[in-house]
Amino acid sequence: MTSQSLEHPLIHLTPPCGWLNDPNGLWYDAKDEIWHCYFQNNPNSTVWKQPICWGHSVSRDGTVWDYKGLALLPQHNEGSVFSGSVVVDSMNTSKLFDEAFDPRQRVVAIWTQDLDGIQRQMISYSVDGGYNFKECSQNPVLDVNQSNFRDPKVIWHKETERWIMVVALSQKFEISIYSSADLLHWKYESGFALRGLKGLQYECPGLVKIPILNTKGQEIKNSEENWLLYISINPGAPQGGSATEYFIGKFDGKVFQPTDNQVRFMDLGKDFYAFQTFFNSPDEKNVVGMAWASNWQYANQIPTTQYKSCLTMLRKLHLQKLQVTPEYSEISLFSTPLWNEGSLVNLVAPKTITPNLPLMSRHGLKIHLDRSEGLLEFTWEWSTEDMMVSKAEFCGITMLLKDEECSNNFLSLGFEANCNSFFLDRGNTGSHFAQTNPFFTRNLSVDLMPYKVSQGTSFYKVHGILDRNILELYFNEGALAATYAFFFKDNCPIRWAYVDSSVNGIFKIKELHFTELAT
Ligand code: FRU
Repeated sequence: MTSQSLEHPLIHLTPPCGWLNDPNGLWYDAKDEIWHCYFQNNPNSTVWKQPICWGHSVSRDGTVWDYKGLALLPQHNEGSVFSGSVVVDSMNTSKLFDEAFDPRQRVVAIWTQDLDGIQRQMISYSVDGGYNFKECSQNPVLDVNQSNFRDPKVIWHKETERWIMVVALSQKFEISIYSSADLLHWKYESGFALRGLKGLQYECPGLVKIPILNTKGQEIKNSEENWLLYISINPGAPQGGSATEYFIGKFDGKVFQPTDNQVRFMDLGKDFYAFQTFFNSPDEKNVVGMAWASNWQYANQIPTTQYKSCLTMLRKLHLQKLQVTPEYSEISLFSTPLWNEGSLVNLVAPKTITPNLPLMSRHGLKIHLDRSEGLLEFTWEWSTEDMMVSKAEFCGITMLLKDEECSNNFLSLGFEANCNSFFLDRGNTGSHFAQTNPFFTRNLSVDLMPYKVSQGTSFYKVHGILDRNILELYFNEGALAATYAFFFKDNCPIRWAYVDSSVNGIFKIKELHFTELAT
């Protein structure tokens, strides 16, 4: 295997070469049973450079992706095709399709034309199931003569039988809501303005109805506050640069009314931006989406040579009651990776470590992960004896993930019991970029509450998916998620895991399970 091919993650979507940013036009083809993902792409440049087009990849299982080339390009080489969405116009409301054409593949893309300092909303449609598109003769379908008016996300609103578009007036900090009967004529309904953390720009909004589930996964149907509005802000995120915030609330087809004015983030890592949901999913109940796994603070400079950068895995989203503190609970967003349902990924060698092991300092566990190609999954569950935690000491349980046994190329992650925080240090990687770029924050953390407390013992768990240069962490069954890019010198895959504690007797491992994977 060449070192160049080693720089591509295996189950995270990357372009074979060139630039990638936001996911666009996500839709699931119910006829051919294929996930379609378009994305901001310039195959001829490894930095963001106009003309930006929509690259296109497809996948049967959401893990193994097949690049199909460019699907949407600017006409006459003028301007760029900025972010947007896809709908399946199965009822042919737009009249763009021949009645004989399969309703499950009547694909319409709604995107932003960025040309001569003005951003307009445009429509293209496909009569071959999403591979090639024609521009609609009525374009632009929405033009309000603004220079920052972009990223339309369109959904079908069953209750009012209308298409709903949310689109960002980025630098006026408004998410405008429009409705339409035919995708071609749009009526302004309301604006959701200056809410949450405004940052310095609103981008890539989305609005979606989302199931509220109980802890057994059953749907609770008695609340109308089952709409999710998400907005990407850049710059201005708390961790620096880019992040995706969300609001839960009601939507009546005209106005989105949030439940409260709190700011919440979809992912607490540093590399999660421009999240978007799929139009359709194989299981109607599920909301599925994905994000760009990078940050505008450094995306152009990450040290991959052939391509930049990748998207996250598909995530399933739902709302669920969360005990936020011992005295307060609320309905919160949960996300879990969608990947082991009919996945094409093979399990190479699962390794489970005996549960209930009390950890003694410097007598940790050592796991040899010798067969993976750089793709690992782990579940790690531990408990802390709260009465034994000493304030004066760093009480940490740590996992080191190394490329070789005695190497300075490693990730260090873990949990500290005094401050109840999970940490990641991605700076020990011998990579010049990681060590010198001041925005590629080396130490990051996520405040983590226990998922259970019983008789002075607190319980925590994390599910990790590590794929060459990207790490996705899902805490406490998806109550929190955090995504981080990292770069090892020479792109070496991880071969060793060490789990240790800085103190005696405080931490007990309830479960530690590694699976080495191959595609
Ligand atoms: C977000 C974004 C969008 C825009 C696109 C351009 O990352 O700035 O607002 O449509 O990228 O590539």
